[in-house]
Amino acid sequence: MGSTQSNPDTGDMCTQSNYRDIATTHLSIVWNIDWHQRVLHGSVTHTLEAKKDGVKEVVLDAANLEIASAAVLVDKHQVPAQFTLGTEHPVMGRALSVPLPSALKTGETVEVTVAYKTHPDCMALQWLDEAQTSSGKMALFSQCQPIYARYLAPVQDSPSVKLTYEAKIASVLPVLMSAIRQSPPSEGPPHDGKEIGKDMVTYTYSQPVPIPSYLIAIASGNFHYRAFNVPEGKTWKTGVWAEPELLERAHWEFSEDTPRFLAKEEEIVGEYRFKVYDILVMPPSFPYGGMENPCLTFATPTLLTGDRSLVDVIVHELTHSWFGNGITHAHAEHFWLNEGWTTYMERTLQLKLHGSEAYRGFAFKGGLKGLKEDCDLYAKRGNTRYQQLQILYEKGENPDDAYGQVPYEKGSNLILHLEGVLGGPEAFEPYVRDYVKTYTGKSITTEEWQAHLYGYWSKNGGAEMTKKLDSIDWKGWLKGEIADYNKNSNSKETQLFPVQMQYDETLLLEAKALGDRWDQSRSLDIEKLDFKTADIDTLTSTQRTAFLEYLLTKDPLPDTHTKHLGELYGLSTTLNAENRLVFYQVALLGASSTAQTQQPSAYAQQTARHALDWIVGKENGVLVGRMKFCRPIFRRAKAVDPALAREVFDRHKEQFHPIARDLISKDLAAP
Ligand code: BES
Ligand code: ZN
Repeated sequence: MGSTQSNPDTGDMCTQSNYRDIATTHLSIVWNIDWHQRVLHGSVTHTLEAKKDGVKEVVLDAANLEIASAAVLVDKHQVPAQFTLGTEHPVMGRALSVPLPSALKTGETVEVTVAYKTHPDCMALQWLDEAQTSSGKMALFSQCQPIYARYLAPVQDSPSVKLTYEAKIASVLPVLMSAIRQSPPSEGPPHDGKEIGKDMVTYTYSQPVPIPSYLIAIASGNFHYRAFNVPEGKTWKTGVWAEPELLERAHWEFSEDTPRFLAKEEEIVGEYRFKVYDILVMPPSFPYGGMENPCLTFATPTLLTGDRSLVDVIVHELTHSWFGNGITHAHAEHFWLNEGWTTYMERTLQLKLHGSEAYRGFAFKGGLKGLKEDCDLYAKRGNTRYQQLQILYEKGENPDDAYGQVPYEKGSNLILHLEGVLGGPEAFEPYVRDYVKTYTGKSITTEEWQAHLYGYWSKNGGAEMTKKLDSIDWKGWLKGEIADYNKNSNSKETQLFPVQMQYDETLLLEAKALGDRWDQSRSLDIEKLDFKTADIDTLTSTQRTAFLEYLLTKDPLPDTHTKHLGELYGLSTTLNAENRLVFYQVALLGASSTAQTQQPSAYAQQTARHALDWIVGKENGVLVGRMKFCRPIFRRAKAVDPALAREVFDRHKEQFHPIARDLISKDLAAP
């Protein structure tokens, strides 16, 4: 294969398990949810299969778990095993080794049971008290990606290992999992007719499709269900779960698009394998926009804008059913395969549905700002490696430190670039289908993806196509950093990829037109401005974001103008968090660039406070825990008034999810 060096797979640097010797194929989970102690206690039973001869032990990842006992099944009897726990690694946790009574041969299986409980300070779980949810009941939810499943259960916590699972969970509040409910039924009286919050009920779940451990998920709380209509001929079911106060709004927001997108996606890439596609509207502290837990996407409540303008997040998560949950990256080095492919497909679905490049081009173009910001941040922190698509992790490095737009944007642009080189969307589609067919159910490396790419196109196009593939700057795309892309460039715009990408700019131009009017208004007195509320009526929510982002590329507007902008268009109060975030960035632009040398204006200080109040829920009691919004606001506020940012964070940090808490602390401590 032309220009790529094929380095041998170094394996997963984030696990201490011996998954290459022996691997879990099935997990049986039994948990009791103890709401008082804030722990899960119970057991997991692994069915494992040896991958080579002479395997004498099973090594699992365990982080902050209290292990009570381990046992191995011998002749249908549980025989206690003398397990050992290695020393604690701050990122990887501890290695839990369970010796086997006799060495296994390749293909032989064994059952290992570990009884344990989680710790109240568990990175994978957030426990919420009554004041932190809309219905005033407690709630609990997990987030295992990328490497937190080990806090929930002793597992081989690598995406290379795929397992089916079944679970039996007892709780006084309804339990949801990333699997298919066996009992009690999802519809009908909630909580099996028993009193929610008081009576213990056992929920059983089964996930018959093999999934990586990072997709094991649980949520418990006062969640109720409403189904969506399923198109004729489809056998899957789809619907939404939310606390009763949000159920109607949630149903309205997602009911139209979810079944439509799911059906369209099936047309392009083949059958939806998970049978159920439900959305759970999470408590506000959920740190992501969405998380593609199989059968049950977790979604931030900030998507409930009342105008369906943020459903693209759902499209993204359901696309993961094929790219990520079907074809899985082998380990963190290849994470871009999940997010890059998903982002490419999510945007290509827009092209299919609208029949025009305008929407797809707009989405690609819109992703560049976040990419540039993240790349700049890595440069500032001396971490330009994280600008690479394929990052070679060191043993024990935390992939969350590298989490950002690079795998999404550089990844999806690489696929888009390939699509262009190989003949456009229509010629590319059969290849995508073949890729999905070939690797669904497997965990793969970048090299395996590439091997199939070359294989497919040489079979379906011969030497001519192979030559086109060889013309791709593989090293630049996979290993390149921003400095490499700009070495020989004399353009004043920073190049973010090894080649210049072109997108349809129709929708962007409309947004920029309004931006130019504001830009040109800077020298006018405020009374002379002739902007109208109606200016933004014709712009979609993403165009509004683009309009504001365009202003970010200009010199800061005078405070008087920014204030007028925020009030006239309702941007300082809008429910649309995407719009509101960029508005605050515009409003704080001047102050954050001059804060080192100049005292920020009263307006900037007031705006920083206002923005922080929004994040910590001072306005309406609802926290904005999604990291996409809270992290940049804390960063901007810190640039304007470091003491204020610190003080607000310290006062509210307990309300944030443990992952968000960790990353905001790091942001506030960074130079
Ligand atoms: N799988 C990711 C979220 C994730 C990635 C969690 C890595 C932990 C580690 C999810 O699919 C995602 O990409 N969410 C985005 C949504 C967006 C790109 C539409 C988010 O949360 O912003
Ligand atoms: Zn994703």
